[in-house]
Formats: sequence, structure tokens, C-alpha cells
Amino acid sequence: MCGIVGYVGHSAGRVNTGHNALDVVLEGLRRLEYRGYDSAGIAVVADGTISSRKKSGKLSNLIAELEASPLPDSLTGIGHTRWATHGGPTDLNAHPHLADEGKLAVIHNGIIENFAELKLELVRKGVDFKSETDTEVAAALLGDIYRNQVHGSSKGDLTKAMQLACQRLEGAFTLLAIHADQPDVVVAARRNSPLVVGLGDGENFLGSDVSGFIDYTRRAVELGQDQIVTITADTVEITDFYGAPAEGKEYHVDWDPASAEKGGFPSFMEKEIHDQPDAVLQTLLGRSDVNGRLTLDELRVDPELLKHVDKIIVLACGTSAYAGQVAKYAIEHWCRIPTEVELSHEFRYRDPIVDENTLIVSISQSGETMDTLMAVRYAKEQGAKTVSICNTNGSTIPRESDAVLYTHAGPEIAVASTKAFLAQITAAYLLGLYLAQLRGNKFQGEIKDILADLNKIPAKIQRILDNEAQIKELGQSMADAKSVLFLGRHVGFPVAMEGALKLKELAYIHAEGFAAGELKHGPIALIEEGQPVFVVVPSPRGRDSLHAKVVSNIQEVRARGAKTIVIAEEGDEAVKAYAEHVFYIPETPTLLAPLLSTVPLQIFALALASAKGYDVDQPRNLAKSVTVE
Ligand code: M6R
Repeated sequence: MCGIVGYVGHSAGRVNTGHNALDVVLEGLRRLEYRGYDSAGIAVVADGTISSRKKSGKLSNLIAELEASPLPDSLTGIGHTRWATHGGPTDLNAHPHLADEGKLAVIHNGIIENFAELKLELVRKGVDFKSETDTEVAAALLGDIYRNQVHGSSKGDLTKAMQLACQRLEGAFTLLAIHADQPDVVVAARRNSPLVVGLGDGENFLGSDVSGFIDYTRRAVELGQDQIVTITADTVEITDFYGAPAEGKEYHVDWDPASAEKGGFPSFMEKEIHDQPDAVLQTLLGRSDVNGRLTLDELRVDPELLKHVDKIIVLACGTSAYAGQVAKYAIEHWCRIPTEVELSHEFRYRDPIVDENTLIVSISQSGETMDTLMAVRYAKEQGAKTVSICNTNGSTIPRESDAVLYTHAGPEIAVASTKAFLAQITAAYLLGLYLAQLRGNKFQGEIKDILADLNKIPAKIQRILDNEAQIKELGQSMADAKSVLFLGRHVGFPVAMEGALKLKELAYIHAEGFAAGELKHGPIALIEEGQPVFVVVPSPRGRDSLHAKVVSNIQEVRARGAKTIVIAEEGDEAVKAYAEHVFYIPETPTLLAPLLSTVPLQIFALALASAKGYDVDQPRNLAKSVTVE
């Protein structure tokens, strides 16, 4: 939630980098806007004063404001794009917030939990608050501390003031501050919220993630928990909240800015749906040898510990949790380890049974989801081993986990997750196969065969994409639908829920995914004449008469007037008689089918929402990374 950018350009005596802070910060905000788009704002230091502009609504509103009322050229600036928590999405509540008589500007991502008591204290000191935000309280506190440092000729120290302020703040925050009296400096702090440093040549950057500065540098530095960083054009100094020096970990960002562009597609979401063959391929690449032996070198958990795992708990939220539910079927089948999947926020606040033989597998595209981070921390405290499946290098969840298996989907910008979902399922399968290999649950030949099937998936996804016109047309023709239901069994059940989530997020219509077998226990009462029902049908070549059961379920809803839309395997003629529309996907083993059957549902939601004229990349009320609990 909230995108944050900071920049300091060249200092005296160095070659001019040619960057105006305004341009750098605006470009960063454009790339970070997916994190929140309720308002945007920017502040720069120039000629010994702070100048700022802020506007509710999308970044384009701020840009229009800046055209009408330009900011001065500057070498130091900060910018913010907001997902509202405290106070509605108004101009007044937009960041930056000013303090110290307009000489200090602060932006913030997170929630200051003790803001009410701090506000009371500051009001008693005479502070007049203008907004409803917790951020303005943090700004006022910082301003108050800074001002108290200034005595006669002794100047204030923004870094020191930030340290003292952070000692008083509770909750989750990334804070960035600039002060008119220290024009060459941006000071930032982080606790439980993301912040990365970008290292330039004669310029340095700060961002909620690397996309905030990817146009300028690929050298990034991870910050730890409860750290403060002070950047100038030439220096980066990191301390803890008490001033003790700390080290950041430098890493190279291996994706290029072009991969975070639309690549000729009308939206990021459409581009990312089309990235999916590559997302799966890249996630599989280099993870096994020619004999089909898995070599997950990055999984640094002692193999002996993994052999003794007696329970797996997958923790995630939203789409990532559906990836976990798909993974459960495969992991239990391949490894015979009891596997639970739980929403992180539910796990954290019940009294779960976790011990040193529990393996926690967290799944998160962003690696910053606060609910999941808190659940992972809690599990670690209970002695569990933690593995993170994550798409964002250097983010907090993998950093705090014992091991990480990165998905290599590339940057996912659209708020609705697509390619990360398929990459998460792929990575979870690799983890399951690795555990099966380690524990001897599967012969090497069996693992090799499954890997061979997995390696065929990218080409099969491409075939679905090549035939997307039919599902797009259906989506466009259903723009007036008020409600769509999705049914599936076995791995088709989480796929049905993911299909429903995509439609809710993008098209703002009622959509629900059900286990097809559950239908007769209640949900079938929803069926009336013309109700659209998607059914994800398992392969007729699968086991346990699953196919026949789902075909019966289609008949049950159709008999009650439903308009049935079926996703089935090529060659499955049996479903035709009961379906108004059939979309065929290539043959694949049942457990791997979600990597294919999800794709038409994504395209359907995209087409329907686009037909309604909605912004599919930035749906209302949402943000890409949910960094508050
Ligand atoms: O970054 P994460 O994978 O941890 O995010 C989890 C959910 O917030 C995310 O999947 C959300 O449900 C998406 N908007 C779904 O499209």
C-alpha cells in the first residue's frame, strides 16, 4: 500500500547528472502507482524552502496540477502515491504533510498505531492539525523534535530527529522526510513496511520497491527492520533507531525497465496474462538436472530437518492463497505430508499448533503482505521452519524466512494477480517434488516424468492464448451480468475461486467459487433461469470418476436454468451436450491442470471488465501490496 520515492541528485563539484528531482520522483510514482492510487503528492527543496503539490485521485491529477502550478527545479525531492487508511482520499489527506512551519515535508506508508495519544500530546503543545491522517502526526512529532534541537547557532539534525521520532512511534511505517535547512538530504525510516535504496553515481534513490528507480540504476540495497537511512548524492548511511551503524545488503536488480512496461498491450494485466508461458518457464529453469533431479540450491534449510517435517502449513492471502490450495493437492499426493492452507490473518490470531517439525510455506507475490509477514514471524517464534515462495527479490518475507524459492515471473504491475499465480503454483510443485525426492516418496523416474509434463506447460498456455478470441467475445457479451458462479472439484475448486476473485476485483460484480460437490448443500438455491455458471471440468482420463461427478453437477445446475460455460480438456466430448459454451484446454495430468484452466478465466474477467469500461490495472479500492494488517 502506498508508493514512496525519494531522490537526491549531484552535490557540488560533481558532474551534473542532469536529473531534476521532480522528473525522477514523478517517473518513480508512475511505476509505483499500482501500490495505491487514492491521491498523489510531491515535495522538493529549492532555494531554502520546501515546495509541494498534492492532489486526490490518480497520478494524472497531480500531473495536471503540476502543469498548472509548476514546482521549481531541485535536486532533492520525495513523492507519494496513496492507498487511504486514516482519512478519506481527499487533497488535504494526501501526502506530503508539512510541519516545522512548512520547513519539513513527510510521506508515509503504513499505520501509526499510537497516533491518537501522540496527537493529543502535540495538540496540547499547540499543533494545529489540518488532515485526518496519522502521517501528519508523525510529521508534527518529527518537526517538534527537530525544532527542539535548534538552539542559537546549533542546527537541527534530521537523521537524529528521525531516530528519536521512531523510538516513539508504534505500528508499521516507512517514513521519508526532507527539511529546508538540510537541502541535500533525504532521511527515511522503516519498520514493517518496505523500503529499498537505489545506488546511483552522484545520485541516490529511495523506493517502496526497485521499480521506483529502475530507470536510473539496477544497484539496490536491502534495508533491515527498524532501520534509518540517510541519503545524499554521494553517501548512504544506515543506522538503527538508536543511532548504531548498520549494514545494508547490496543486490543487482535483474529485470529491465522494459519488462515493467505494457509491451504494446492495452493494459499491464493483458500483457501479464500473455507473459504467463515465460513466467512458468523461467520459474522452472535451472531447478533440475538432466536426470530430472531437483537442485533447489537456494533452499538452505537443512535436508535432515526437511526429512522430519510432519506437517506443512501454507500461509498466504488472496490469489496467493488459492495457489497454496492448488499446491496442497499436489504436495499431499506426492509427499504424503499433511498440508494445511490457511489465510495468514486467520492463522496469526487463533492459537495454531506449530512446532519445530512444522514447515511453513508462505506464498506472496510482493513479499510485503503484512498479514503474511506477521504470520510467518509468529510461526518462527514457535520454532517452525519457514520457506517463502516469492516474486520480489529482497522483499521482507523472504528475507525473514529460513529459505526462499523465488518465482521468476518478472514484475507484476496490474493489481489483479495473473502470472504470479501460475508461477507460484509452479514453484510450489517444485517444492513438493523436492520434498518427495528428499524423503523418498517418489522414484527418480516418476519425478522426472512430472517435470517433463511441467516443462510442456508453457507451450500449452501459449496455445490457449493463441485462441483467446472466443473467451474474449464471451466476456464482452456478458458485460451486463449481475452475478457469475464458478464450480470446480479437486484442484478445480481453487481455480473456481480464483476465477471468481478476478471477476470481483475487475468487474465489481457478484462472483463466487464453489466446490461443485458442495452445491447440493446450499448454493444450488442461487440458480435461476439464465444464471451464468462456469464449470472447471477435470480430465476424463483422471482417476476416481471425478470427471463423471462434475458432469453430473453441470446437469444439476442446467436442469435449474443455469447458463453453463465449461472449461474442459480437448477431446472431452461428453460435456458438449450440457454446455452453452465450451472452452477447451490442452491435455495435461490432473494435478497440473490449474496452470491451464485458470487462463481462460483470467481472459474472461479482463474482457468483461474492459467492456464495462473499467480500469483493469487499477481496480477501485485496491492496492497491489497490502502492507497494513
Ligand atoms: O503480494 P501477495 O501475493 O502477498 O498478495 C496477496 C493478495 O493481496 C493478492 O493476491 C490479491 O488477492 C490480488 N489482488 C489478487 O488478484
